[in-house]
Amino acid sequence: MKRIIIDCDPGIDDTLALIYLAAAHHEGAIELEAVTTTAGNVGAQQCAVNAAWVLSECGLRTIPLAAGMPGPLEVELTTTPETHGDTGLGYVSAPARHVETDWDALWCDAIDRGTDDLHLIVTGPMTNLAAFRRLHPRHFTQLKHITVMGGAVDYPGNTTETAEWNFWVDPHAAREVLAHAPTPVTLCSLGVTETMVLDPEALARVVDTLGPAPIARSLSEILRFYFEFHDDEGLGYLAQVHDLLTVQVALGTTLFDAQPHALDVHAVTGELRGTSFVAGGKTNARVVSRADTGAAHAEFLRACGVHAKFFGGSGELDAARHARAED
Ligand code: RIB
Ligand code: CA
Repeated sequence: MKRIIIDCDPGIDDTLALIYLAAAHHEGAIELEAVTTTAGNVGAQQCAVNAAWVLSECGLRTIPLAAGMPGPLEVELTTTPETHGDTGLGYVSAPARHVETDWDALWCDAIDRGTDDLHLIVTGPMTNLAAFRRLHPRHFTQLKHITVMGGAVDYPGNTTETAEWNFWVDPHAAREVLAHAPTPVTLCSLGVTETMVLDPEALARVVDTLGPAPIARSLSEILRFYFEFHDDEGLGYLAQVHDLLTVQVALGTTLFDAQPHALDVHAVTGELRGTSFVAGGKTNARVVSRADTGAAHAEFLRACGVHAKFFGGSGELDAARHARAED
């Protein structure tokens, strides 16, 4: 069974990724070992409050969770309330709560339990991963499976003409991780993640399929903000759900093609900030070039059905896991 750490910045598409991972955990396909948050869409603490609420609305209240680094390695933190809403969940606000900050201890503990089946997924800026290398270099080199959402490789950016948001927020972190990656990073960059699009009709099917799962009550208002943002950007009333595709690639539940590359990142301020480019040298990334997004949407709907069963009291899921929803 894959053991998963997700480092995220919920964030609306991160929320869909968490919903998917929660379903996989319920059905015993993965062990969701830890959720940590990175500053990006909103601040790291707020991301942690959001992540804790989303997991709770998905029936998971005891997953180890912590807020990560407060901001990028070297540049000032820039957040994007205009994209994900003032608190990061569109028109919804998660209730305030205390969150822990021992994110790196969670990662070290997981690594100490073994790394053959441990998969780290990063769906926000790579600040925590780069900081982890500086704080715990020996543990960093033991990581064997890393999947990242970020970059725009030979593809237009979504933040500047050439840079993707996660890489732009912390360009130094992106550059350092790729320069010292202990294993080639599976990179879901914009060229493939922008093909994963949720529209209102598809969202209606998701909400309907979620049935009694509490998260279903809020998802329309969370996504409405994202639909409006994309519409204002001239992309149509839809949502590019980058992080949902990324976690499916990481779990291997959607078919994809990837090519090896040696990537570098312009860790500078100015117009090239955060721009990823193919350099020479040792392969440090497997850049995902294509994914079966039709199958990915179907797989997400199937996962939403798992939540409906879990909250519907169906006997089809492990009773022990069902009991967990009540804790
Ligand atoms: O560029 C898209 C990425 O930036 C996604 O991870 C989205 O959540 C935002 O963080
Ligand atoms: Ca994200």
